[in-house]
Amino acid sequence: MRERLARREFVRGALCAGMARMLPSFPPPDTLRAHAEARGLLVGCAVVPEKLRGEPIYAETVAEQENLLVAENAMKWQALHPAPHRYDFAPADTILAFADAHQQRVRGHNLCWHQALPDWFHSMVTKDNAKQVLTEHICTVAGHYAGRLHSWDVVNEAIEPKDGRPDGLRKSPWLMLLGPEYIDIAFRTARRADPKALLTYNDYGIELDTPEQTEKRRRVLDLVRGMKKRGVSIDAVGVQSHLTAGEQRPGNGLRDFVRELRKMDMQVFITELDVSDHKLQGAPAERDKLVGSLYGDYLRMMLAEPNVTAVLTWGITDKYTWLNHEHGRSDGQPQRPLPFDAEYHPMPAFYAMREAIDARRTT
Ligand code: XIL
Repeated sequence: MRERLARREFVRGALCAGMARMLPSFPPPDTLRAHAEARGLLVGCAVVPEKLRGEPIYAETVAEQENLLVAENAMKWQALHPAPHRYDFAPADTILAFADAHQQRVRGHNLCWHQALPDWFHSMVTKDNAKQVLTEHICTVAGHYAGRLHSWDVVNEAIEPKDGRPDGLRKSPWLMLLGPEYIDIAFRTARRADPKALLTYNDYGIELDTPEQTEKRRRVLDLVRGMKKRGVSIDAVGVQSHLTAGEQRPGNGLRDFVRELRKMDMQVFITELDVSDHKLQGAPAERDKLVGSLYGDYLRMMLAEPNVTAVLTWGITDKYTWLNHEHGRSDGQPQRPLPFDAEYHPMPAFYAMREAIDARRTT
């Protein structure tokens, strides 16, 4: 026992000092990271810079389990661009420094979205200056991280058939200001600012075989086809994968979508996986099993497709899941949607992820 504690201390010290690779066995062989690396896969999670700095067990779990990080909020407009002519990169840079110290890749999230816009945006941006504001933000931010990122979510959630437009695009502020061309503008600018990052279109509500989600997938494919035809470079689609246990599961529609994208030479990333348990009754242990089984079914299906190359969960521990704030359970109990519980114990979802990673063919 004392020996184990001593090893923990040693590991923690080495991780803090950024000497992960010098540890005798890093990542530990039972981790998601070790299993993913054995199969050439990226596995990761959304992170919060303050926790990486301030909570050793959080930092240690992220360092050991993941080889790909994404900022949950720290790279959004609101965080990076607090005033029209001021940028604050410090918190987001913490993530890059952490990743460098632990030989992890980083995704950027995101360069253009209808949410998380700073207050000044609404009073300052007009049809006349919108293009300049968008391109300047992308040049500055993608330029700051150029050459260092695995990928960028260039445009997030641009499609919303329910908004009723014939082209299926969401009536976002960007669309209202610049028209549909804003998407091409964002991607072209991102490519110029960072020729290395894989440029990604990211969206949610495209996982299930419901009529709405089937329609949304069709719109995503149309968008990608159109961009390719116009010579706009795009490398990947992000399938957010905010799933709910106890409802219809993802199936053939999503699999066909991934295969269509493969024909277009596109990678697919699972960018924000979590499984809400708000529709489940029963004791936590029973709910955890159902959440875990959805993780397993979903990832086995997706990882059987060779162009699915990265899986990220939206957080690592239930302690900090966004679902408690935005989609809380009606009985007031906390949600349990992630691979580690609030005390950092691995959940059925963790084991399901690891098994699905193991089932990935290495070709
Ligand atoms: C969420 C964060 O998790 C929350 O902390 C924040 O308050 C709102 O945004 N789709 C996305 C993510 O692309 O950026 C969102 O993140 C979750 C849904």
